[in-house]
Amino acid sequence: MIEIRDLEVRIGDRVIAAVPHLDVGPGQCVAIVGESGSGKTTTLLAILGLLDEAATVTGSIEAFGVRSPSTLRGSKIALVMQSPQGALTPTMRLGTLLRRALALHGVRGRAAADRTRQALRDVLLEDEILRRYPHQVSGGQAQRFALALALALGAEVILADEPTSALDVTVQAEVVAVLRRLHEERGLAVLLVSHDLALVSSIADHVVVMKDGQVVESGPAAEMFAHPAAGYTRELIAATPELPDA
Ligand SMILES: Nc1ncnc2c1ncn2[C@@H]1O[C@H](COP(=O)(O)OP(=O)(O)OP(=O)(O)O)[C@@H](O)[C@H]1O
Ligand SMILES: [Mg+2]
Repeated sequence: MIEIRDLEVRIGDRVIAAVPHLDVGPGQCVAIVGESGSGKTTTLLAILGLLDEAATVTGSIEAFGVRSPSTLRGSKIALVMQSPQGALTPTMRLGTLLRRALALHGVRGRAAADRTRQALRDVLLEDEILRRYPHQVSGGQAQRFALALALALGAEVILADEPTSALDVTVQAEVVAVLRRLHEERGLAVLLVSHDLALVSSIADHVVVMKDGQVVESGPAAEMFAHPAAGYTRELIAATPELPDA
């Protein structure tokens, strides 16, 4: 669904993200982990064509066989960010927002209502939430609403950048539960950026470890957690005591 080859993002002469090879297949969950500033967000933004003008991008990124996947943003590919409330128009009820987004994609009336109902059910939200304004919902509800919006628009891949790190622990758990359910039951593909190795080990099929703009290790999650090859990966794992024993 997403295929990255020899991606290099530079600002001036500094390489801020170099990703030789990254694939997200149907129904797969791929996680990118690594310290702050390692190039994780840059990689997601490159896929969606949302990088700053100062950045030069080389290499190839394909999604669904399309050479410039930015055209699939908001339809087949959705971005879910750290604090979704900031991305929702404050003066618009969530129902209006959803209806307008669907209308932009030519989905109206009965079809829009059906999709909305199904998407809310998939993220375990009540229809009542549609009457509320963004400031009237919790962070976890806003994050689940962002997922519902993506689903209603027909997303097949979710790019999630630290989707739980702005939330408190109990709310994190509900967002993770919904994300895992969408991935496992609905076959949604996920490219997840997270600092949270416990979350990554519980949901990801494949892990990419980045440091200083470079991929230091990449492989199947179970294998990587059991036998990390790179010293840096071992450090990350050692710093996460709550990981289940491999
Ligand atoms: N527009 C920009 N101009 C200059 N430097 C930038 C720009 N965007 C990102 N960078 C630099 O690129 C590097 C990678 O940034 P990026 O946001 O991808 O890191 P990250 O891995 O997502 O970090 P975090 O975990 O803190 O979110 C950082 O050193 C950052 O300062
Ligand atoms: Mg980031």
